[in-house]
Amino acid sequence: MSNKQRPSALIMLFGATGDLAKRKLYPSLYRLYKKGRITERFAVVGVARRPLTNEEFQKHVKDSILTHIGENTEIDQFASHFYYHSHDVTNTQSYRDLKTLAEQLDEKYSLEGNRLFYLAMAPEFFGTIAEHLKSEGLTDTRGYKRLVIEKPFGHNFESAQKLNDRIRTAFAEDEIYRIDHYLGKEMVQNIEVIRFANAIFEPLWNNRYISNIQVTSSETLGVEERGRYYETSGALRDMVQNHMLQMVALLAMEPPIRLTTEEIRSEKVRVLRSLRAMSKEEVNEYFVRGQYGAGEVNGEDVVGYRNELNVDPESNTETYVAGKLMIDNFRWAGVPFYIRTGKRMAAKSTKIVVQFKDIPMNLYYNPAEPLQPNLLIIHIQPEEGITLHLNAKKSGKSSTIIPVRLNFANKSVDRMNTPEAYEKLLYDSMRGDATNFTHWDEVALSWKFVDVISDVWENTKEKSFPNYPAGSMGPKCADELLQKDGNFWWDVEKFVIETC
Ligand code: BG6
Repeated sequence: MSNKQRPSALIMLFGATGDLAKRKLYPSLYRLYKKGRITERFAVVGVARRPLTNEEFQKHVKDSILTHIGENTEIDQFASHFYYHSHDVTNTQSYRDLKTLAEQLDEKYSLEGNRLFYLAMAPEFFGTIAEHLKSEGLTDTRGYKRLVIEKPFGHNFESAQKLNDRIRTAFAEDEIYRIDHYLGKEMVQNIEVIRFANAIFEPLWNNRYISNIQVTSSETLGVEERGRYYETSGALRDMVQNHMLQMVALLAMEPPIRLTTEEIRSEKVRVLRSLRAMSKEEVNEYFVRGQYGAGEVNGEDVVGYRNELNVDPESNTETYVAGKLMIDNFRWAGVPFYIRTGKRMAAKSTKIVVQFKDIPMNLYYNPAEPLQPNLLIIHIQPEEGITLHLNAKKSGKSSTIIPVRLNFANKSVDRMNTPEAYEKLLYDSMRGDATNFTHWDEVALSWKFVDVISDVWENTKEKSFPNYPAGSMGPKCADELLQKDGNFWWDVEKFVIETC
């Protein structure tokens, strides 16, 4: 492996005692270390408010790895690269101390001045931290300097722009790595390959042959202990503005002229620019919302959203969104992209269904058993793979046509678990590959699209809430949204990929 593939870095992790660091970041770094993708030339400075010694912090890191990976070979050696700095984000002296520590570690581990500042904490401090990193000289380094920043990136376009202006005072656009962890998922990355490496799909990938595309991301979890955040976000800001629109962009973009970060991102931006804008009056024609009531999930009774911790008992926040997106360009004119996402639904699953148009003339017309349309299913999670639904003759003498499925399951080929999204994204940010991070232009356009909807929804109390029971696939209005077009949601719960 070349040096570019085994990058050195000082990772300064703000929010080091938080949930994301514990569940995702430490286990991902450990896996990268075990695979030899990061060598001994790395150090992590955990930055958080509470006082901890280096030893206590290292124990915290080791515990999180044991809990989440259940393995501990070389763990002491790995954890010895972790240091702790107790920090108050507004205290200038504290940044100076961080700088001194960074310089020492740079020397000790031969890090060539490479610095990755990872903000995995409350977003209200993002701007303040970025400004201090610059004013106190931490960004003044001979190696690379990069800012990795978690969502939410703003609350709407205006606040996102303000935040962007602040972080841009310290980092150039190409030094900012805005995380959308869906872009790190194996099968989300596979969308482009399925489309652009297969002669049988790309010629059909347009409004002549595709009837509609459905993207479903359902969760069984409720809001857990995140009620306070979720009340200000709702499913629209939490999932649609980022993950759902990113998947649509990948499904709809034109083939890039080259597989470079700039070319791919600019094609995605063009899709977001082509999204049909809605007037306020049109919002409820294109988008519907839901909120879960009490119900049963995986055999257990669960409370409704309004009874969750830190949630207003009269809350108007949506925990479910379904929408119809129209992409007004030559390729997609007339093809609806339906999206839906929600909490406390029947299954934890993300799937894309591409429904092809019916064949022009049906030679096998049988009113008792109408021919099924061809479908391409991209299974993003929990299973990973693709399924193609075709029609074929039932074996034997009868001329009955039956649907058949061609399956490809990622795991049965690799016979190993695909890396976690965070593992890939961390590695990419260290290698300087920003392809699977969101550019400001994408963030800005997504907010502008979503802001129209949230403006309307926040200003009209939804009287039907709660309108779907926990453990269901969402409210009735989501079915009606498709029925108006003569379509229906495919029952994705049944589209389970068979692994061999
Ligand atoms: C996050 C949202 O971005 O994505 C969460 O804030 C949501 O509310 C999560 O649960 C879903 O991610 P995944 O990878 O579990 O589908």
